[in-house]
Amino acid sequence: MKHKIVRVGSYDQMSRIVAREIEHTVRTYNGANLGLPTGGTSIGMYKELRKLQNFSWENVRTFNLDEYVGIDSNHPESYKNFMNRNLFNHIQIPDSNINFPEDESYDKKISEYGGLDLTILGVGTNGHLAFNEPGSSFDSTTREVLLKEQTIKDNSRFFNSIEEVPTKAISMGLKTIMNSREIILIAQGSKKYDILQTALTGDITEEIPASILQNHPNVIVLYCE
Ligand code: GLP
Repeated sequence: MKHKIVRVGSYDQMSRIVAREIEHTVRTYNGANLGLPTGGTSIGMYKELRKLQNFSWENVRTFNLDEYVGIDSNHPESYKNFMNRNLFNHIQIPDSNINFPEDESYDKKISEYGGLDLTILGVGTNGHLAFNEPGSSFDSTTREVLLKEQTIKDNSRFFNSIEEVPTKAISMGLKTIMNSREIILIAQGSKKYDILQTALTGDITEEIPASILQNHPNVIVLYCE
């Protein structure tokens, strides 16, 4: 299935649209299991989610896509800290509803809770989804992964030096992501546009992890300059 890349006018608009979709899903079902990303692109979406009024997080369960391995959980760039800073510290969500991948039992945990209803994704400049780097199996589930040089370079902007960037992570697998009932991918900037074009209109190949999305029936891809 070929998914269209929906161009939106600005980053703020993209952030509002995706936050509204999350709000709509949670309100419709009186709760939801959300797959949540980290990374610069998602910051505006979290800012919008923090503003929601008369909205209950009580029945929302969050499942983050990934976390660095070998990083102190107090490090500002650990994904736990990113999430606390951008969302969890500002909303009323029970701690027990918040989940991060810690080991391979993550998939079992997600299915025991009924599976992911809506997953928000970013994309790496090399086409990675979560930390599923090029070459990852389409059948992959949650596991420890090695980061590619390109990803380490891209993410070094958040660290004092490139040496500080962890080289390993634990990531939801591509199969885990594909099991989500609905997916929204957000991306900003021309580099992301190019890889998305290739991923969404070219061959479906493990060399471009995001190309697996062509096999999912319910994906929205939002893009802004
Ligand atoms: C990291 C995350 C991905 C995310 C990507 C894009 O590598 N593991 O899940 O999609 O970054 O990040 P950014 O939005 O900062 O470009």
